[in-house]
Amino acid sequence: MIEKVNIENYAELIQKELKTGILLNTNGDKFDSMVIGWGHLGILWSRPTFVVYVRESRYTKSQLDRTGEFTVSVPLSGPIPEFTRILGTLSGRDIDKVKEAGLTLCEPQMNSTPGIAEYPLTIECKVLYSQKEELALIPEDIRNRFYPENGEPSDSSCDPHTMYVGEIVSTYLIKN
Ligand SMILES: Cc1cc2nc3c(=O)[nH]c(=O)nc-3n(C[C@H](O)[C@H](O)[C@H](O)COP(=O)(O)O)c2cc1C
Repeated sequence: MIEKVNIENYAELIQKELKTGILLNTNGDKFDSMVIGWGHLGILWSRPTFVVYVRESRYTKSQLDRTGEFTVSVPLSGPIPEFTRILGTLSGRDIDKVKEAGLTLCEPQMNSTPGIAEYPLTIECKVLYSQKEELALIPEDIRNRFYPENGEPSDSSCDPHTMYVGEIVSTYLIKN
């Protein structure tokens, strides 16, 4: 069961939960979910939007680029540590995260990417716009910290993020 909500009433919760990680779900070859700590609720081109930042190396990115949609799942009172470990360090390229973490998926309303019952606040989005970061335009101290040039090419914590602006198409709470 779901209860439709006005996402504006949850801006403070989203801001708080981002500090410990919320979830970015995609559904391409299969359902996958990864932890994100960067993102924002807002308005662009007069439309309600949620923006996420995804590094090149993520399995999530390959799914996002193909499907053009995503769903964000937000816990109501802090993260589940086991979810943070599995969804925030392992890749959907190697494992089935639904099985590994024991996620309870919930049928989507307006896109094709399910929400997750354990993280009830659900924001369904369709990608309006995406753009890869231009590293030369990022302030030096930030660039050196998040995109070190001496990082190994295989090091997934060095590659640039792509920004995805999702138009919010449905927002609700998943109820048991
Ligand atoms: C607290 C936390 C916040 C994170 N935030 C982001 C983020 O905003 N963007 C990103 O690309 N990766 C972020 N990650 C890393 C991904 O969650 C991680 O690499 C994940 O295993 C990728 O899964 P995938 O390969 O199935 O897409 C974060 C991880 C943690 C633990």
